[in-house]
Amino acid sequence: MTLGQRRSLLQAPAIQALIVLCLALILALLAEEAIEHFLGVAVSPVPFSFLHGALAAAIAYIRRMASWWVPILFFFPPAVVSVNALHLPPAIFLVVFLFLLLLFWSTFRSQVPFYPSGRPVWDAVARLLPADKPLRVIDIGSGLGGAVLHLSRLRPDSRFVGIELAPLPWLISQARARIGGSRGSFKRGDYALLDFADFDAIFAYLSPAAMSALWQKARAEMRPGTLLLSYEFIINEAAPDIVIHPQEKGPVLYGWRM
Ligand SMILES: C[S@@+](CC[C@H](N)C(=O)[O-])C[C@H]1O[C@@H](n2cnc3c(N)ncnc32)[C@H](O)[C@@H]1O
Repeated sequence: MTLGQRRSLLQAPAIQALIVLCLALILALLAEEAIEHFLGVAVSPVPFSFLHGALAAAIAYIRRMASWWVPILFFFPPAVVSVNALHLPPAIFLVVFLFLLLLFWSTFRSQVPFYPSGRPVWDAVARLLPADKPLRVIDIGSGLGGAVLHLSRLRPDSRFVGIELAPLPWLISQARARIGGSRGSFKRGDYALLDFADFDAIFAYLSPAAMSALWQKARAEMRPGTLLLSYEFIINEAAPDIVIHPQEKGPVLYGWRM
């Protein structure tokens, strides 16, 4: 992927998984037909769902999809049959779907889900920021806003901004900033569309899938002397200048001086 470019919808692993499920369903229906025709045995829903899952898992394995898709696709059809047997009101599925949509938004495409880092990480970030001048710092993918709110308290001389793609975390971070009277601010949008030259330091807690494109963008846009920080996920293209452990047993915080 090149600078600021987003993965096409069809390339997204979750969409690929959906296509695999559809393909496996067609094969499972053909197999069911054959079993009924040649053996005269009707296949009931539970064995059918395992057949469907096994075919989907086999296709995922043959297509060399990431290893976790094999068990997910195997158990997905039986899980659907089991949940269906509970006869839950359909509105529950709509409510859960809408909640997950607002929380995760286009995670299926970006492959960067929401999970917060935490105070030890934000304190470690604060210690790495130059103390001799006011800074403009951004958390790209700011989630519930904890990093921006905490750092704004620690460094009242500097401006901290968060950008978040998913509507629900962004709304919660906005509300937290307003209620708490924070100087930190939040923007809803895609960090790929920002100009990184506007910032003295960038904090990222994303996923391995995002790191290569992030590095290309950072290298092209960040000014010399600025700082790129990534919690947990390393950039393979460039050895980090900073490697610290915010918590004794937790993941690493990496830093690159541009
Ligand atoms: C692992 S969470 C990190 C949350 C927060 N930075 C923290 O450290 O607690 C990653 C967040 O990035 C958001 N995200 C993913 N891709 C994004 C993008 N292209 N632009 C803005 N936010 C994005 C996700 O919605 C998710 O909330």
